[in-house]
Amino acid sequence: MNDRIDPAEIKTPTAIREESEDVGRNPSANPTMGDVINRRFSRRGFLGGGLAVAATGATVSPAALMSARPARAAAGSAFDFAEATAGVDATHHVADGYDAEILLRWGDPVTAGAPDFDPMNQSADAQARQFGYNNDYVGFVPLDETAERGLLLVNHEYTNPELMFPGKAVVETDAEGRQKVRIPEWTREMADIEMAAHGGSIVEIARRDGRWQAVPEGGMNRRITANGTPMAISGPAAGHERLKTNADPSGRRVIGTLNNCAGGVTPWGTYLMAEENFHGYFTGALPEGHREAENYARVGVPAGWYNWGTFQDRFDIAREPNEPNRFGWIVEVDPFDPTSTPKKRTALGRFKHEGCETVVNGDGRVVVYSGDDERFDYVYKFVTAGTYDPDDRAANMDLLDAGTLHVARFNDDGSLDWLPLVHGEGPLTAENGFAGQADVVIEARRAADLLGATKMDRPEDVEPNPKTGKVYVMLTNNTRRTAEDVDAANPRANNAFGHIIEIAETGGDFAATRSTWEILLKCGDPAVAEVGATFSAATSENGWFGMPDNCAIDADGRLWVSTDGNSATATGRTDGLWAVDTEGAARGTSQLFFRVPVGAELCGPVFTPDSRTLFLAVQHPGDEGLATFENPATRWPDFKDTMPVRPSVVVVTKQGGGKIG
Ligand code: FEO
Ligand code: CA
Ligand code: CA
Repeated sequence: MNDRIDPAEIKTPTAIREESEDVGRNPSANPTMGDVINRRFSRRGFLGGGLAVAATGATVSPAALMSARPARAAAGSAFDFAEATAGVDATHHVADGYDAEILLRWGDPVTAGAPDFDPMNQSADAQARQFGYNNDYVGFVPLDETAERGLLLVNHEYTNPELMFPGKAVVETDAEGRQKVRIPEWTREMADIEMAAHGGSIVEIARRDGRWQAVPEGGMNRRITANGTPMAISGPAAGHERLKTNADPSGRRVIGTLNNCAGGVTPWGTYLMAEENFHGYFTGALPEGHREAENYARVGVPAGWYNWGTFQDRFDIAREPNEPNRFGWIVEVDPFDPTSTPKKRTALGRFKHEGCETVVNGDGRVVVYSGDDERFDYVYKFVTAGTYDPDDRAANMDLLDAGTLHVARFNDDGSLDWLPLVHGEGPLTAENGFAGQADVVIEARRAADLLGATKMDRPEDVEPNPKTGKVYVMLTNNTRRTAEDVDAANPRANNAFGHIIEIAETGGDFAATRSTWEILLKCGDPAVAEVGATFSAATSENGWFGMPDNCAIDADGRLWVSTDGNSATATGRTDGLWAVDTEGAARGTSQLFFRVPVGAELCGPVFTPDSRTLFLAVQHPGDEGLATFENPATRWPDFKDTMPVRPSVVVVTKQGGGKIG
């Protein structure tokens, strides 16, 4: 993994993700569970609609599987809608009585004067002004009291070059007869387009004549990119030797942000962008004996998912060995000032941040939850030292620079210890290589290892519920967990379908250091005994899911879960959004509200404060089998032969108005 990577050998990110056991999108890596599924889904067929089908994988016909009729909500449920039908096809579906319309697509103009999308002649300059690729987190900040005008804050996590660039991807057969998609030739312009398609978009949106629309002339519209947005580094690691590079001898300035997965909005209306799989962007080999060798091994640098190091020295760790220390942080952006400098808040630690959801604690301190999305990594929370002042926005703007980062230890007796990552406390000393708090945050994972944090089954979104004092932790899957290393919080060996943990912070105190936890749901098909899923008996054939990933708590404190990894072969359904009861007799009941087109995962569920509008991010649609620009698994959302498949944000409203769900 640490050998120098020949850029000519770099595969597409999709191919790498599909091969990677760190992303549970390919349950065929798990023959035992695949056998279970195949037994259940005994009737096989090929998908319709011109879908690409991997040569190595048989698929099932979802239409044949899903005979159950949509049903009304279970008795005692907090939700009241007619459930959608699970399945797989080329487009999206929402529960009856709701509209789900396309709001923003890859390539749509964002900043004033941006050109219209021309997929056959895309340029880095155009992309830097247009909506980026693979929308993930979506945040909403109202601009007026009606909440019918606001800023949409959207992360662009990564790129699928095989689906973005015409005439570049080829299908090859390897020595074992397996077919895969590869891009044999790269240009600087392609890399620059990819960098410009990363980052985030800030887009004014408004409800006009009853329909939500982007406002292309919005004065706060902004693109944030991997290669064009100067950022400041603040907090305990700012200016540290380990963050200095040739381009930045101060260790306080960095260009851009990488792999922005989920995120958050602070109580003072700033946009938090979580840097997740930053290791994928680096190539090259560290100089012999370099001090960062252990640090980089712990986070998988260099993974070589992209070949940007061929075109920019900073992505080649032989040339700029400290650059990877400048990624893996939480970035805070003031969306109301398009000239503001985003800040990387190093106090929150450096790891593969899935998201960063905040809550104001009863005492005014702000608590930020974040999962570190890798098999056997950890759940964190940060508690600010200062308190939030609702009447003084300026006084809140640097709250995230000082406070205490904690990591979770889920004890088998149902108690939970939040262990502080504080230099000088416990094992976090100079003898263990931590000369100060900068070293602790730069190597947060190693610090958490020494503290004895609980190794989890891929922590994704971690969402506090301010109404109940509970916190929901999405654990997407971990097929590498063996029977020998199960524990109470990760109780399934070969965990293909993931689970959800509910933390009860003691007395509703989100800053508590000792709390309790229990498992809300073990996911997967409850009809297959070997899976061990625990959805309630009221959950229908459509209502169960695998691989929880992102989630949202609506204004009524209800939980909504979106998924990454469901497919025809994995679960007989695409990813989607499920409404999950957490209280009373209906606890553990799940109902399908929305599902994505084939190949996509669903990210970014977020509601407007009045719960009358829901925004959803459909990520990597059409990315299934041997998909390419010319031959995607769907041409969603435009369904024109001249248009590629396009990741897009969908806006959901209730027909005739009213609260969602
Ligand atoms: Fe970017 Fe963990 O998903
Ligand atoms: Ca995610
Ligand atoms: Ca994910």
